Amino acid sequence: MHCAAEAHMVALLKSDPAPQNNSDISANTMRLRKEVIVPDQKDFQPSTLVIHSNRVYENQSNSILFPIHQTATYIHESVGVTKGYGYSRGANPTVNALEQAIAAVEGTETALCFRSGMAAISTLCLALLKAGDHVVLPDVLYGGTSRLFHQVLGNFRIEYSFVDTADVDAVEQSLQPNTRLIFIETPANPTMKLADVKALADLAHSRESILLAVDNTFLTPLLQNCLDLGADISMLSTTKYIDGHNATIGGSLATHNATLVERLRLVRKTLGTIQAPFDSWLALQGIKTLPARLAMHCAHAGEIAVWLENHPKVARVYYPGLDSFPQKALAEKQQKGFGGMLAFELDADTEDSLRFIDALKLATCAESLGSVETLITNPATASHCDLTPEVRARLGITDRLIRLSVGLEAPKDLIADFEQAFAVVFGVEV
Ligand SMILES: Cc1ncc(COP(=O)(O)O)c(C=O)c1O
Repeated sequence: MHCAAEAHMVALLKSDPAPQNNSDISANTMRLRKEVIVPDQKDFQPSTLVIHSNRVYENQSNSILFPIHQTATYIHESVGVTKGYGYSRGANPTVNALEQAIAAVEGTETALCFRSGMAAISTLCLALLKAGDHVVLPDVLYGGTSRLFHQVLGNFRIEYSFVDTADVDAVEQSLQPNTRLIFIETPANPTMKLADVKALADLAHSRESILLAVDNTFLTPLLQNCLDLGADISMLSTTKYIDGHNATIGGSLATHNATLVERLRLVRKTLGTIQAPFDSWLALQGIKTLPARLAMHCAHAGEIAVWLENHPKVARVYYPGLDSFPQKALAEKQQKGFGGMLAFELDADTEDSLRFIDALKLATCAESLGSVETLITNPATASHCDLTPEVRARLGITDRLIRLSVGLEAPKDLIADFEQAFAVVFGVEV
């Protein structure tokens, strides 16, 4: 390119694009710009922070929504000089915006976002563990996490034990000199079994170099703040309540430990497990309504749990808010709400239980949870299909168990749907 033309190109590239069709532009720029409040965690409640945590005006148009930085790489202003972003496998502004919103609800400085909940758990394990280390896992946990240990990490000589994490003494007895991590899930998928986060954090910290990580996907930090309860790491599948609309797959990790954050960043960059910009942007819109959605999920699930429990064709309901739930006191101690998830068994065999799911018209048979739509699954054939029938039976994950993620539809309409499904399977007189 000719030198003058090249200089012109460079000047063009460096200047902001001219605003179009805006005759008021000079008048606008003359006016005093309103001060932008960039909220600080100390000054605002989580419900405010999730909406305003990224409150910086995008400098080309002042768009109210944080922009999607859909880019692989970033221009160096001169060799080695960047604005802090080098390559989107390491960091991206839109991913960062979601990370700030998640950090706000976790009540910590930094959260990191991942391509999926499983990418978050995998990155955590690869960041913390080496061959010969031992991990304590709950006996009831999401099938994908047990598959990660059984079929992947076990091949790298990572040792693990499945323990009843509701029993703190059993966890203590399972600790070994090489235990590095206690990884719990509470409430556990799918039976809603709880683990005492504070008691297990105290146990982990009574030993040298054991960390406690909690998969808090079912509740989110707004209903159970695991870092406040003493856990070292809070993990979320953001696919669920954070996004809330079944639009994305994602995961997050949060911790107060700055050294661990740097280690996780390094391993995430190395593995390439970072969340994608567009998915982060979608989840960033979802998280703004998280407090409002959670309040509705809790109210609707509570109403439906009571209705199911009183139904003559329902044998058992697992919901921490019910008086019949054996760990209700623990839920009241460590949770700020009982959540939107429940499980139940019909007073029927597996075949009729599956026919009941098929007969539903509004509640939708689909994997995943935590969205505005009510989703229903049979864990034995879906999330926990990798476990043997004997193991499932021992853990209470019976073949007829039904898991329900209560959405935001009117409970009256959901109950009418259940009633018509009962009528289809058992006859109108039920
Ligand atoms: C409790 C729990 N943890 C982790 C995961 C994995 O998350 P993702 O599907 O986003 O990888 C799931 C998925 O259903 C889950 O239910």
